[in-house]
Amino acid sequence: MLIAVCGGVYSNPYALQAFVQDARARGAEQLYCLGDLGGYGAEPDAVWPLLLDNDITVVAGNYDVAIGRGDTDCGCGYSDPRDNEFAQLMYDYTLAHTSRDFAQWMTTLPTERRMTLAGTDVHMVHGSTLALNDFWWESLSEEQHALRAQESGADLVLCTHSGLPWTKQVGQTLVVNVGVLGRPANDGRTEVWYALVELDDGRVSAELVPLAYDWQAQAASMRAGGLPEAFVETVETGWWTTCLEIVPPYERSLGRYQLYRSALPTGFETEAEMAQTRLIRSPLEPWNTWFTNCGLTRSEPYVGAQFNDMGLVYDAASSGFGVALVRLKLGAAWLDGGRLVRLSTRSAPSPHKHYVCWKPGALERWECAAFVDWLKQSFH
Ligand SMILES: [Fe+2]
Repeated sequence: MLIAVCGGVYSNPYALQAFVQDARARGAEQLYCLGDLGGYGAEPDAVWPLLLDNDITVVAGNYDVAIGRGDTDCGCGYSDPRDNEFAQLMYDYTLAHTSRDFAQWMTTLPTERRMTLAGTDVHMVHGSTLALNDFWWESLSEEQHALRAQESGADLVLCTHSGLPWTKQVGQTLVVNVGVLGRPANDGRTEVWYALVELDDGRVSAELVPLAYDWQAQAASMRAGGLPEAFVETVETGWWTTCLEIVPPYERSLGRYQLYRSALPTGFETEAEMAQTRLIRSPLEPWNTWFTNCGLTRSEPYVGAQFNDMGLVYDAASSGFGVALVRLKLGAAWLDGGRLVRLSTRSAPSPHKHYVCWKPGALERWECAAFVDWLKQSFH
């Protein structure tokens, strides 16, 4: 038999509707949801009829337990103050926009389900087999994976909560983190993910399915609800902008944003800040320009990575080699695309000029003339 299993819906009725259609079109006989029905999106109540009308079997997530009880926070397990600030804003919104009937229904849901399907022992949980809000990341050590798999002992364990899908055979147990429907998987695409599981006389296999849905409608709904633009940006770009602090280094390295701005040095204008920082060097853009502008008496650094090409300097900075002194025009593609983050609002005019030179007669070739025109327009 074929079953479809989705994770956190996060108040995204558009993705849930697409899940039902896609899973049914692929032949899924039963549909399951591993919980976290609310949060993130603006329409928590719109999720409920979709669950009921489409006969989706639901496991309660930490969010559902909290909303059902009327708790004062979501119990998401974040530790960063900024994460908690966003999470609190979202939780307050969801609590205020969830009908008491829906909330009451959530209290009737079990926090895990165990069943035999087509000869397979299947265990459905929300976070992990250890706890409702335990993050079961793919990058956990083999011991940590084994600990969670052995706690269950089932042939198949299905989980969600972390937001990132993966599958892994752990001993005798196939573990599938089915991902979430509510927001993209920090992979730069707008699709969300769910799992199709084939069960056949004790044999089990799983496929992670990217799901296209009407993300424009979800984004518009969130804006209309007055939710933070940082959340909407994730729906529109596929990159996580919040709640990154709990993401382990491996998973974080796959996304666009590895650090919060608040974690970066501020100002970047004092002796102490400069002394702690690895400076990427280039004879084309000496650091003295910056030091002088900031009133520092430092001498030009003479150790550390050095490049004779500004593109390489910017690539080195975006790869984590250190801090680069970037011209706003030359580095626009890196800054606009988010690969480089500006550390200071101060800007220092460069004393160094660029010249474009040509041999006499070169501009009679139209392509040379067009190139010079383009260059002048781009840098003026
Ligand atoms: Fe959760």
